[in-house]
Amino acid sequence: MASARIVIVKSRLLAGLRAALGDRHVTTDPERLASVEVDWTRRFRGRALALVRPGTTDEVVATVRACADARIPLVPQGGNTGLVGGGVPHEAVVLSTARLTAVEPATVDGQVTVGAGTTLASVQEHARMAGWAFGVDFAARDSATIGGMVATNAGGVNVLRYGAMRQQVVGLEAVLADGSVISRTSGLLKDNTGYDLAGLLVGSEGTLGVVTRARLRLVPPLPRRAVALLALTDASAAVTLAAELRRRLPSLLAAELFTDAGLRLVLDHARLAPPFATHAPVYLLVECGETEQDPSDSLAAALDAAGFDGDALLEADADARERLWQYRERHTEAINAEGVPHKLDVTLPLDRLAAFLGRVEGVVDAAAPGTRTYLFGHVGDGNVHVNLVGPSSEDEAADDAVLRLVLELGGSISAEHGIGRAKARWLAADRGRPDLAAMRAIKRALDPDGILNPGVLFG
Ligand code: FAD
Ligand code: MLT
Ligand code: ZN
Repeated sequence: MASARIVIVKSRLLAGLRAALGDRHVTTDPERLASVEVDWTRRFRGRALALVRPGTTDEVVATVRACADARIPLVPQGGNTGLVGGGVPHEAVVLSTARLTAVEPATVDGQVTVGAGTTLASVQEHARMAGWAFGVDFAARDSATIGGMVATNAGGVNVLRYGAMRQQVVGLEAVLADGSVISRTSGLLKDNTGYDLAGLLVGSEGTLGVVTRARLRLVPPLPRRAVALLALTDASAAVTLAAELRRRLPSLLAAELFTDAGLRLVLDHARLAPPFATHAPVYLLVECGETEQDPSDSLAAALDAAGFDGDALLEADADARERLWQYRERHTEAINAEGVPHKLDVTLPLDRLAAFLGRVEGVVDAAAPGTRTYLFGHVGDGNVHVNLVGPSSEDEAADDAVLRLVLELGGSISAEHGIGRAKARWLAADRGRPDLAAMRAIKRALDPDGILNPGVLFG
C-alpha cells in the first residue's frame, strides 16, 4: 500500500516538473542518470529519481516547490567535481544548474554577475575580456561551477592572495526550500542591513538553498608572472620557506607543496620528464605576479635572502610556467588513476603544520598498514590534501586516524572541499556541540522538512 502511494507521489511530481520545465529538461533515463549518481572520485554512489535542468530562476522555484510539495529530496549539482560526496543523490531529484549560465558583463566597479552554472574557466575568460581577473583558480576550472564553488566555499591556489570564494561574493540570488527567492545582487560594497544571508549560503553545501546567481568581485590582472619550483630536504623546510616568502614577497600568489611520492605518480601518469636530475623528498612551487615588471628578480632575491640554496627552476615564459604547474596540478587525476582515493582536506595552524606532515604517514600506517599516502596542497594556507589509496571505500580506519591527529593539533577537518557525506560524522568533533546545535537550528528554520540535500553536513 505504502509503495503504491510512493509511486503515485513520484508520478505526480514528474508530471508537475515536466509541466513547469518542459519534457526535454526532465529525464528519468537510467543512462543519463548514471553520470549524476557517482562522484568524481567514484567513491560515493547513489540513486537519482530524476534529473531536471531548469533554465531560469522561476523554473528553479517551480522545481523546489514541486519537490517540497511531494516531500521528495532535492540535490543541486553543478560540475559534479566536488570531492566529499555532497552532490550525490540518494533517492532524490537532481537539479542540474547546467542551463543557468547567463553572464552580465563586468562593470566599471569591477564586478560580474553570473548564473550558478557558469564554469570557473568561463568566469575567468569574461573577467579577462573586460580587463580584469578573477581571484580564484584551481585545476577543475573547466567543469566546476560558480554555484558549486559558492556552496563549498572553494579555495584553490590563490587563497593566500585573494581569499576563498567567500571573499569574492558581493551578493547572491538563491531559492530557499519553500520556493522563496532571496536576492541581493546590486553590487553594494558596503551594506550593513542585518544578517548576511549570502555569507550564510557560502559553504552551506546545498543544504539551505539553491544558488541561482552570484555577483562576484574581480581583481586587477597581474600579467607579469614568475614561477619557481624548489627542491627541499623535508616538509618542515617547505613550511618555513613558504612563510618566509609570504613575508618577503608582496607579489606572492601561490605557495604549493608536494612530495616525491606524488611527483613520481604524476610523472608516470602524465608522461612528464622529471624536473631535476635527482629526486628530492619535498617540492615547493611558488608563483608571483606583477602588473608591469617581471617578478623573477624579486623572487630570486627573496629566495637568496631566505637562505634557499637547493635545486631550483625559475620560469617567466608562459609555456614554461605552465609546464612547472603541471607537476602540481595533475596530482588529483594521477591519484584517481592509481585507485579510488579517500580524500582528506585539512588545515593546520601554520606553527603545527610541519609536525602534522612529519607524523601523518606513521599514523596512517598504524591504522591501515599498506595504505599509500599522497600529500600535497596549499602550504601557504596551512592546507594539506591527504590522499589515501588502498583501503576500500567503506574502510575509514585511516581516515579516522588522520582526522584525530588534525583535531589533536588544533586543525580543521575541512579546509576547502567541505563536509559533504564524507566527513559528516566528524563535524561535531570539529565544531563542538553548541556550534552544531546552532547550525541545526538554522537548517530547521530554513528547511523544516529537510528537502535540500539531506544527509550532507549533518549525516
Ligand atoms: P558539485 O560537485 O556539483 O557540487 C558540490 C556541492 O555543492 C554539493 O553539495 C552540491 O549539492 C552543491 N551545489 C552545487 N551547485 C549548487 C548550487 N547552485 N546551489 C547550492 N548548492 C550547490 N576545490 C577547492 O576548493 N580547491 C581546489 O584547489 C580544488 N581543486 C580541484 C581539482 C580537481 C581536479 C577536482 C576534480 C576538484 C577540485 N576541487 C577543488 C573540488 C571542486 O572542484 C570544488 O569543490 C568545486 O567548488 C565544486 O564545484 P561543482 O560545480 O563541481 O560542484
Ligand atoms: C587541489 O588542490 O588540487 C584540489 O583541492 C584537489 C584535490 O585535493 O585533489
Ligand atoms: Zn586544494
